[in-house]
Amino acid sequence: MAGKILLAGGAGYIGSHTYLALVAAGFEVIIFDNFVNSHPSVTERLAEISGAPVTCVTGDVRDSAALDRLFAEHDIAAVVHFAALKSVADSVKDPLGYLDNNLGGLVTLLAAMDRARCRNLVFSSSATVYGIPDETPTPETAERRAMNPYGRSKIMCEEVLEELATADPGWAFGILRYFNPAGAHPSGLIGEDPKDVPNNLMPFVAKVAIGEIAQIKVFGNDYPTPDGTGVRDYIHVEDLARGHLLSLQSLLSTGQGHVVNLGTGKGQSVLDVINAYSAACGQDLPFVFEARRPGDVPIYCAQTDLAKSVLGFETEKSLADMCESSWHWVTSQAHLKRP
Ligand code: NAD
Ligand code: UD1
Repeated sequence: MAGKILLAGGAGYIGSHTYLALVAAGFEVIIFDNFVNSHPSVTERLAEISGAPVTCVTGDVRDSAALDRLFAEHDIAAVVHFAALKSVADSVKDPLGYLDNNLGGLVTLLAAMDRARCRNLVFSSSATVYGIPDETPTPETAERRAMNPYGRSKIMCEEVLEELATADPGWAFGILRYFNPAGAHPSGLIGEDPKDVPNNLMPFVAKVAIGEIAQIKVFGNDYPTPDGTGVRDYIHVEDLARGHLLSLQSLLSTGQGHVVNLGTGKGQSVLDVINAYSAACGQDLPFVFEARRPGDVPIYCAQTDLAKSVLGFETEKSLADMCESSWHWVTSQAHLKRP
């Protein structure tokens, strides 16, 4: 296959699963990561799963010189750009840091790609760009109006990519708006590994299941949803990883960019998640209803037609698969010695 694929932020949760999908499809892949939110040991685990050595370069996407060296040493056909900070709460406390890392990192990376004449990039965007959407399931044409610095950094990144593609049609961008990634690889060797108390539902539920946290706090039971709790479109991280493979293949074969939602099109409530996880771990998980979380949206759900028609993407895995693989990952983790 002509040219390697660079995964910026490839040691993280979604990047590590995408690494495996790309290697399985025959791509030669390089991980570039500063490990601000991941651990170098992930590369050993990826080598164990894939049965082949992993090429990983430690570095920051805001470091032009490091990127120039990388592009000089490797023939890189395309980049998948995962490297970003993703905590909404931290972004409110440190908007400048989020702009520097998320927007500054993208601009520095694009400039290095331009110098190296590498013009294909898949970008990790988020459903958060829709703010409180007028329509659910939400189509890609919905207005972008994020409500916090993290979400706004994603909108700004999308705008930079659009402006660049307009200025020079030689660029091809795959903008992927993920809904709620969940689950883990079936090996139990890689998964989501938050460093602090998790903000997101699925990793929080996992911590309760494993006994590290006493009970789940359900933020709001008075939403206009079937059971009153928040509804989200949870997508298995392995389905999401395959979405990146299809996006890359489309960019490389057509030279045309795309902006697509990656979700299942099916909404699941907080109570649905608790019930599915309880079934996966074989115990009824304790929960308590609390006030709504400020800034929360009642329902997020993807319109999925475009991902299907443009990329041929459809999800294969269920909420039960997400919970079972997550449970396997957290129980395996408990037995693995972390360096
Ligand atoms: P993650 O934190 O697990 O992975 C991000 C990786 O990027 C980490 O390994 C981190 O060390 C690295 N990184 C961050 N800043 C860097 C920098 N300046 N230079 C080099 N490496 C850097 O997060 P994830 O869940 O895998 O998310 C990947 C991408 O998807 C992010 O852009 C995130 O905003 C986006 N996204 C995630 C979700 C989600 O729920 N996980 C939802 C929508 C969008
Ligand atoms: C959050 C972020 C969003 C980001 C996404 C994926 C906020 C306001 N939004 O979205 O920008 O793109 O994560 O990283 O932080 N819930 C509980 N108890 C918990 C945690 C969550 O009841 O302990 C509920 C929430 O109210 C929501 C659902 O579970 O209804 C999912 O929450 P979460 O996993 O945080 O994802 P999002 O709210 O979709």
